[in-house]
Amino acid sequence: MKKILVIHGPNLNLLGKREPEVYGKMTLKDINARISSAAKARGATVKFTQTNSESGIVDALQGVMGWADGIILNPGAFTHYSYVIYDAVLACGVPTIEVHLSNIYKREEFRRKSLVAPGCVGQITGFGYRSYLLALSAFLDT
Ligand code: DQA
Repeated sequence: MKKILVIHGPNLNLLGKREPEVYGKMTLKDINARISSAAKARGATVKFTQTNSESGIVDALQGVMGWADGIILNPGAFTHYSYVIYDAVLACGVPTIEVHLSNIYKREEFRRKSLVAPGCVGQITGFGYRSYLLALSAFLDT
């Protein structure tokens, strides 16, 4: 059975209320429920964590070593400037897929670069909550 950790970064706890025209109307709880049921249907185990801090993401990445087969990570705005999270992804050694609800390449200039993605297996961006489901499938299909 595959074990997957989903890490939601800063401000994603506000989904549903936060810029719904960009991020959609679903809450984080709704999204986690969709991921959980998709994982259950495929016989996988999934755990979730959300943090508003950079150190919270690092702790989550380090804490999962030895448990997870894969990590689905939405680093929020840290994506665009955090070498710390890039290093932590490499250090934990667990295959990680970076996901974004919005298409970061279609938005402001500062969002069009990810410092984290080069440490990841791949990146899925722009499919709303389905970005997480696509990342889950990528892990479970391979
Ligand atoms: C985001 C995109 C980031 O640029 C932004 O800072 C977020 C959300 C997304 O899922 O689309 O917080 O990661």
